[in-house]
Amino acid sequence: MTPALAWERFATKAKPRRAVNAAGATTWLNWTQYPDHGPDESILGDLRGKRVLELGSGSGCNLAHLATLGARCTGVDIAPSREVAAEQRWGRVPELEFVTQDVADFLQESADDFDVVISIFGATWFTDPAVLLPLIRKRLAPGGVLVFSHNDEVDDDAQSDRAIRKWNFSGQQWAEMLFIAGFVSVSSEIIPPPKPELPGTLLVRGAAPR
Ligand SMILES: C[S@@+](CC[C@H](N)C(=O)[O-])C[C@H]1O[C@@H](n2cnc3c(N)ncnc32)[C@H](O)[C@@H]1O
Repeated sequence: MTPALAWERFATKAKPRRAVNAAGATTWLNWTQYPDHGPDESILGDLRGKRVLELGSGSGCNLAHLATLGARCTGVDIAPSREVAAEQRWGRVPELEFVTQDVADFLQESADDFDVVISIFGATWFTDPAVLLPLIRKRLAPGGVLVFSHNDEVDDDAQSDRAIRKWNFSGQQWAEMLFIAGFVSVSSEIIPPPKPELPGTLLVRGAAPR
C-alpha cells in the first residue's frame, strides 16, 4: 500500500474536532495529543501577516486558528479527503488554502518562502528527516522558524516496509539533524502529559539563519 492510500484510509476513520473547546473558543491550536492541554500558538509570536505552512494539516483545525489571527496560511496533506474536510469546515476563512500533495514534493516544487512552518503529529513525524529537513530549511525565509510536535516515545518503530513509518527521535537527535540541515537556535522540550502514566509531547524548534 502506498503512504497516500494508507493515510486516506486513516482519514476515513478520523473524528471531526469538537466545535468548541473548554475555554469556549471555536478555533484554537493544540500542540499535544490531549485536548485543552499544553501551550498554544503564542509560542510562535505575532503571526499577523506571516506566511505559515503546515505539513500534514489534516482537517485544518490548527491552521484555521492561525488564519483567524491574521496569518497567511497553506496546509499540505497527502490524503485527498483531508483537503475536502478542511475546505468544508474552514473554506470561508480568509488567507487559508489547502493542498493535497506529499510534503516533500510540495516543498521541492514550491517557489514560496515561509516565515513559520509547523507540523503537529504531522508529516515531520512520518517522513525521512534526511530528505525533509533540508527541503524545509530551503523554503524558510531568513529568520523563519520550524516548530513541530510528536509523541515523546523513542521506540524501535523503524520497519521500512510499513506504508506508514514513524520517525521517532529524542529532542537531542532532532537537534543534531536540524543542525546538519542548516538550522540555528535549535531547542526542544517535553510537554508533560496530563496524567503521569501517559506519554508526553516532544516539541522541537529550529530557525533559519537571518
Ligand atoms: C496524525 S495526523 C495529524 C493531522 C493534524 N496535524 C492534526 O493535528 O490533527 C497526520 C497527518 O499527516 C499527513 N501526512 C503524513 N505523511 C504526509 C506526507 N508525506 N505529506 C503530506 N501529508 C502527510 C496525514 O495524511 C495526516 O493527515
